Amino acid sequence: MKKIAVFDAKKYDQDSFAAYEGQYQFTYYNDRLLAKTVNLAKDYDAVVCFVNDELNDEVLTRLKEFNIHGVFLRCAGYNNVDLKSAYKNKIHVARVPAYSPYAVAEHTFALILSLNRHIHKAYIRSRDFNFNLESLTGFDLYDKTVGVIGTGKIGRVFINIARGFGMKVLCYDPYPIKDSDYKYVTLEEIYKNADIISLHCPLTDSNYHMIDKNAIAQMKQGVMIINTSRGGLIDSKALLEGLKEKKIGSVGLDVYEEEADLFYHDNSSRIIDDDVLALLISMPNVIITSHQAYLTKEALDNIARTTINNLNEYFSGEFINNELCYHCDKSSNPEQCYKNKTKRCF
Ligand code: NAI
Repeated sequence: MKKIAVFDAKKYDQDSFAAYEGQYQFTYYNDRLLAKTVNLAKDYDAVVCFVNDELNDEVLTRLKEFNIHGVFLRCAGYNNVDLKSAYKNKIHVARVPAYSPYAVAEHTFALILSLNRHIHKAYIRSRDFNFNLESLTGFDLYDKTVGVIGTGKIGRVFINIARGFGMKVLCYDPYPIKDSDYKYVTLEEIYKNADIISLHCPLTDSNYHMIDKNAIAQMKQGVMIINTSRGGLIDSKALLEGLKEKKIGSVGLDVYEEEADLFYHDNSSRIIDDDVLALLISMPNVIITSHQAYLTKEALDNIARTTINNLNEYFSGEFINNELCYHCDKSSNPEQCYKNKTKRCF
């Protein structure tokens, strides 16, 4: 039986993979896969990873030395993988491209509604029998403008929910959906007109810190900024400044650019040396969740099922449908995909 090392694995991950234990022998590591932990992968046939594992050149080169040629992500985003190095080391990388856009879009609205109607504060107050309503005033979502950056699977579900509230929706995407009824505008128009801005795009080299001092300066006074995509999309220091200057009205983050060492772990007994995060968390108009937007039963089931399917395709020598290919990404042209000619690039 093939032996698989599963990194950054929690109880809920183990529960969702339990149904497939007969097919593969899984070993679960609470540790992330990093240069300092990569030796744990020795003697396995493949590794299963998550969002904060570091699949950089050093780690991938070590995996190749261990004769591991399969990396299976339990997530959609792959900004943590050096695909060029994976190609160089002849390591196949597959992901779970979609497991529940509903989970993420619904969590995004949970953040919006909680921030707007101060549910997080009201909950604490009422637990103390303080039924005072001072400073709990929100605004109607109806007729407000929401700017959606990225109209992929999650962005589209998010738009449907926003329309249900009667919101006006402005969209930005470098690859707009043809023949849709979405109103695509420039980023500048989103910044200028949106009451709420929600990020639903991947993190790439070109959009790192897209929400920076300059972008914030163009936004409406009191804007709400929501990020459930990737932390690196926002310059956190600029975000903090915008909050302090009261230019930004509220912020909901499910991701944070320095989350890797903190998220998914109980740090309550630890002194946090990240001053930006500490200040953000201390603000009454900021809600931070721990990269949990995906965390629904349905999404966990889909992640486990798709990962097993990816493993089956890999070990059977078949075409790996969810493989990430450095060449294809580079060319962005499926016609040039080597896999159209052969089952595998290597
Ligand atoms: P998708 O691939 O279906 O859609 C992404 C969209 O973003 C595409 O339409 C693409 O054209 C667009 N895009 C690419 N570069 C852009 C840019 N610079 N500016 C604006 N739009 C751009 O991806 P999906 O499933 O909708 O996921 C979106 C992101 O959500 C993922 O990349 C991931 O970072 C994040 N995510 C977060 C989760 C969480 O638990 N917080 C869970 C799953 C995904």
